[in-house]
Amino acid sequence: MSRLNDREVRKITGGKATPESAYMDRRRFLKGAGMIGLYSAALAAGCSPGTSGREADLPLELSEVEKTVYPARRNDRYVLDRPLTREEIAARYNNFYEFTEIKEDVRVHAQKLVIRPWAVEVTGLVRRPKTFDLDDLRKTMPMEERLYRHRCVEAWAMAVPWTGFPLKALLDAVQPLSSATHVRFKSFYKPFAAQGQLAFWYPWPYTEGLTLAEAMNELAFMAVGIYGHPLPKQHGAPVRLVVPWKYGFKSIKSAVRIELVDYRPATFWNTAQGLEYDFTANVNPTVPHPRWSQAREKMIDTGETRPTLLYNGYEEYVRRLYA
Ligand code: MTE
Repeated sequence: MSRLNDREVRKITGGKATPESAYMDRRRFLKGAGMIGLYSAALAAGCSPGTSGREADLPLELSEVEKTVYPARRNDRYVLDRPLTREEIAARYNNFYEFTEIKEDVRVHAQKLVIRPWAVEVTGLVRRPKTFDLDDLRKTMPMEERLYRHRCVEAWAMAVPWTGFPLKALLDAVQPLSSATHVRFKSFYKPFAAQGQLAFWYPWPYTEGLTLAEAMNELAFMAVGIYGHPLPKQHGAPVRLVVPWKYGFKSIKSAVRIELVDYRPATFWNTAQGLEYDFTANVNPTVPHPRWSQAREKMIDTGETRPTLLYNGYEEYVRRLYA
């Protein structure tokens, strides 16, 4: 795999998009100027353009059904080797290309997404295709909280509590046919609300894929909440995938369709830049990305760097998938 410089990368992709140097420069600048704290404080105080602080992060009121979900019982099987990332940092440092490539601004632009009503169609090679509205999922899926590590291919990491249910429970509900080999995930296409979707060089809508065996793995999780409340829009409301042993780009946000298929589906990043983003995308510290060494990772709140673990530390759960 050839190593591209920032200019070449921008030329080819227009993004992911933020070349490492620009991203580090921006963070270094904000940090050096003592501005990360100030920026967060300004956001919390409602100084950000077009939003008013807290209401930009959370829906103001929980619906009656949502009230039955939170707080969800924590599943103690999944433990962390590091402290949880502070919520206000995780909520202000996001990747959501539908809205903007500037992580610190996603939170503002994502508020334009209308998430009520919302439905997820689960279809394809299944015996009982079904469209679930969010309340169907909240009422029928086994909700729990899980603490997971999250590792972005850009070498930043966080550790957060998700609320949701195993993807396997949803797939079991529609009864996959024996001919199904893969699962294809699709996000929304709403370029009037999501200005980033006007970037014509990206293959919208955002799509992702897993093998059926990966999707059925106990770790594959559909999140409807984070930090004990429904997902804020910047984290992929109202429902997103979380695949903690793979790089973060596999964890598609704001899913509208899940389709069982008998081929390896095309995916957003693999289509945009196949030399940089492979389909499988398992976290592997020994295989560098052309622009980011994967040997270490940086926690987004403390700035602490740590050695990256094979499969992001989830080897015991997923090793047999790749034997
Ligand atoms: N899903 C959609 N629909 N669009 C995106 O741009 N970015 C991915 C993933 N899911 C992305 C997405 C990437 S690169 C990462 S690292 C995570 O979302 C970031 O999740 P977070 O913002 O909740 O931390």
